[in-house]
Amino acid sequence: MNPMLSMADVRKTYATGVVTVDALRGIDLEVYAGDYLAIMGPSGSGKSTLMHIIGCLDVPTAGRYELDGIDVSSMSEKQLAEVRNRKIGFVFQSFNLLPSLTAQRNVELPLVYAGVPAAERRERALAALTKVGLAERVDHRPGELSGGQQQRVSVARALVTNPALVLADEPTGNLDSHSTAEILDLFAELNDAGRTIVMITHEADVAARATSSVHIYDGLLRQDAIGAGAAK
Ligand SMILES: Nc1ncnc2c1ncn2[C@@H]1O[C@H](COP(=O)(O)OP(=O)(O)OP(=O)(O)O)[C@@H](O)[C@H]1O
Ligand SMILES: [Mg+2]
Repeated sequence: MNPMLSMADVRKTYATGVVTVDALRGIDLEVYAGDYLAIMGPSGSGKSTLMHIIGCLDVPTAGRYELDGIDVSSMSEKQLAEVRNRKIGFVFQSFNLLPSLTAQRNVELPLVYAGVPAAERRERALAALTKVGLAERVDHRPGELSGGQQQRVSVARALVTNPALVLADEPTGNLDSHSTAEILDLFAELNDAGRTIVMITHEADVAARATSSVHIYDGLLRQDAIGAGAAK
């Protein structure tokens, strides 16, 4: 089986004014369909940089990155946007919901960008919100929802396009323990159904819910002994 995601010697250098930061210094990573991988590491180690590259929100300075066998390193901004919309669902620490839109409308947004007709959008958004247990809150705006509920809306938004890969950057970072458990149960359910998940987290007990894990230190990956053993 070919990996869904494959990185070879991926590097990212930020040049800001006189300071140059080597945020990623040669990352080799493979993720297979159905994997649930946790990426752990201290603040500033390069986790979000790596996530942005995996998610095609940014491109490497050097190295090779293939998604479904296609080299994304050399894609145009337009092609990257298309890959993001078609293949990847994002969940962020800070939810990133539009405050003026209802839960329903927030979840419909990726489908608007994908050009899905209105009636089908409504149906799919409602189905996604039902799946995350929020059928009763579709008309609420983010400000009228708890943090855990807002994150469930953003999981619904990530799922509504039926992406091959769900990427989550500290998805439980702003949640209390109860909501954290809810979101992690939801991820486990998605992974059991075959969805590929890559999740960034600071917390070992959150990472333990994934099926494998790697640590990143100072822009370099280190495979975890436990993670390697648990990998399929
Ligand atoms: N846009 C940018 N321009 C310049 N430097 C950046 C940029 N983004 C990140 N960096 C630097 O790259 C390094 C890695 O940052 P990154 O955001 O990937 O870390 P992180 O592991 O996600 O940290 P945290 O756990 O605090 O979110 C840091 O030293 C950071 O200062
Ligand atoms: Mg980060």
